Amino acid sequence: MAKRNSFSIACWRVNPVPAVRRSFTLIDTSTALYGVFGDPVAHSLGPAMHNQAFARAGLNAVYLAFRVRDLAGAMAGVRGLPMAGVSITIPHKVPVMEYLDEIDPEARAIGAVNTVVNRDGHLMGYNTDSRGALKALGEKIDPVGKTAAVIGAGGAARAIGYGLVKIGARVLIFNRTPEKGRTLARSLGAEFHGLADLAGLRPDIVINTTPVGMAPARDAMVVDPSGLAPAAVVMDIVYNPVETAFLKAARAAGCRVVDGLTMFVHQGAAQFELWTGRKASLNVMRRAALQGLELLGGRFHA
Ligand code: ATR
Repeated sequence: MAKRNSFSIACWRVNPVPAVRRSFTLIDTSTALYGVFGDPVAHSLGPAMHNQAFARAGLNAVYLAFRVRDLAGAMAGVRGLPMAGVSITIPHKVPVMEYLDEIDPEARAIGAVNTVVNRDGHLMGYNTDSRGALKALGEKIDPVGKTAAVIGAGGAARAIGYGLVKIGARVLIFNRTPEKGRTLARSLGAEFHGLADLAGLRPDIVINTTPVGMAPARDAMVVDPSGLAPAAVVMDIVYNPVETAFLKAARAAGCRVVDGLTMFVHQGAAQFELWTGRKASLNVMRRAALQGLELLGGRFHA
């Protein structure tokens, strides 16, 4: 990918969004194309985050959001255009696997792909959600040998639980619907418990992987964390708002907290590194994601 300069201009939009200063990269015939495939994608922070990261690294690349309903057609487009790399989000993380040439063993074990890398026409699938969560947690605690409570039993719980088990944490799955929780726990080699048992089990780490607390229901908490040991590290994968009610209550109980934006940025940085072979600037990506969240403002209800 050719290096090139980017520049900043003030950008005023037609709709009533405040003027913001943004960096743009000049686009030409050698610009590499990246993007996110999902439905919906109107709330995606990927374009804000990755375009700033490309610009900061001096890479001739752009990243766009594509609302994809025809996944087969979109994946044919990745080959045909060709696109250099794609982020995959809801609802395509599992179905995308059938359109790839190769799947990384970790993504295969998790059962979902959130990153596609196009290596000269060979489409390779990865999952950076697990890595992103472990990196984010690692800012506050080394999970090896610790007891980690994972709340929820969906795709995010599976990716995070898988990563934690693999590095040697003792994983406890807590879920509203016991059957779903038990199934996930069994497949990960973890234990299942009801939500009411959380504080009594004195976990070192607690991670909310459910959407509870996401705007606009900002006051909702999947479980009250006030009974947790103050030494616990509490993480939420919800990043809008950045400080959820769950994290606020955990902080008030004396726990250290890791917000969902930190995980989002780490999984994005892992994507950037897979695509470009270069280290991403976490600071640039976090600032850009925060700016993206502010811009989305009241429109962000995903
Ligand atoms: P993803 O794949 O994105 O992780 P998902 O498959 O929809 O999302 O899973 C969401 C998880 O959040 C599920 O475990 C769900 O619990 P159930 O298995 O009981 O449905 C959990 N969840 C969602 N809303 C919840 C709520 N209000 N209270 C408790 N758990 C909730």
